[in-house]
Amino acid sequence: MAEITNGEVPNECDEIAQAQVDIWRFVFGFAEMAVAKCAVELGIPDILENQGDPMTLSQLSTRLSCSSTALFRVMRFLINRGIFKETVTKEGSTGYVQSPLSCLLTKDGNDSLAPLLLFQNSPVIITPWHFLSACVLDNNKSAFAYAHGKDTWKYCADNQDHNKFFDEAMACDTRRTVPAVLRGCPEVFTGLSSVVDVGGGDGTALRILIKTCPWIHGINFDLPHVLSLVPECEGVEHVGGDMFISVPKANVAFLKWVLHDWDDEKCIQILKNCKQAISEYGEAGKVIIVDAVIDVRGGDKLKDVGLMLDMVMLTHTNMGKERTAEEWGYVLSEAGFSSHTIKNIEAVSSVIVAFP
Ligand SMILES: C[S@@+](CC[C@H](N)C(=O)[O-])C[C@H]1O[C@@H](n2cnc3c(N)ncnc32)[C@H](O)[C@@H]1O
Repeated sequence: MAEITNGEVPNECDEIAQAQVDIWRFVFGFAEMAVAKCAVELGIPDILENQGDPMTLSQLSTRLSCSSTALFRVMRFLINRGIFKETVTKEGSTGYVQSPLSCLLTKDGNDSLAPLLLFQNSPVIITPWHFLSACVLDNNKSAFAYAHGKDTWKYCADNQDHNKFFDEAMACDTRRTVPAVLRGCPEVFTGLSSVVDVGGGDGTALRILIKTCPWIHGINFDLPHVLSLVPECEGVEHVGGDMFISVPKANVAFLKWVLHDWDDEKCIQILKNCKQAISEYGEAGKVIIVDAVIDVRGGDKLKDVGLMLDMVMLTHTNMGKERTAEEWGYVLSEAGFSSHTIKNIEAVSSVIVAFP
């Protein structure tokens, strides 16, 4: 066999050796998610955040009223994954401190993804993954429906606690993403009089938007049972309804993490109703979509997150999906929009602005 000297091309032996290592990520991949959940449930990121100074294992186990044996192993695993760090205390012992990753896992932090992590790790949300292969073989039924006998939205309607959990999980992403939208595309919001947030959940997006742009009248539009759980907010009107029937009129229709829940046919139907809602505003009307655009970020670290979200859509919705730029172009033109722009921001989602 000829000797290969070009180091850039992995030879088959390297690939096989690498596979022997990589396969374990798939075998035990769940451990990373489950142990991070354990740390969040125990409130360890909050304890370390509030403490400020490094905490020894014995201080942490005293605070949690537990023995240090299992706690030590959990911390060792998480530190190896970049969640928490070890440092030296003033007394010269080993102490734990927050890391950039564990700072994103406090219970109430503005940037925290802890509610989403807890939600994705909950039994209701984990069970449908066991039905993914069944769903691949029969596209007529979602994995969620195989697991729970109804779709996500009906399940939310029938289980208020789960619905609240769902809203909190969505809101924690919104608290990170909407400021990124405002930073990345401030021009999109200048001169607007009213915004309807279609599928706005608990109204978090409009609360943030109105703080920055107080001249905007916000309409938080969602299913009536969702709005029954939502607190009042000055400057935001909650309107219950069904986006497949009609959308309240406004200067702008805003949709974050909504269109990816639906197949192309349903997505086009929602977009047509949004186009109708902004029709009175002529050329000043627009639709702002905040969703992943997969593949536009060649080599981007977040590309893989877009692909993971696509698997979440496949598992939890009825053929919802993350879309490529071409797929977004297709649904927008089928819904009758004449043009659109796509801008990447510092988030998993991009901003798509569609013009009638
Ligand atoms: C994935 S969540 C996104 C929530 C919010 N936009 C966010 O990103 O935080 C999708 C939202 O669409 C709402 N929704 C589902 N079906 C709807 C319908 N037919 N009409 C109005 N809203 C609907 C859900 O209740 C939910 O709040």
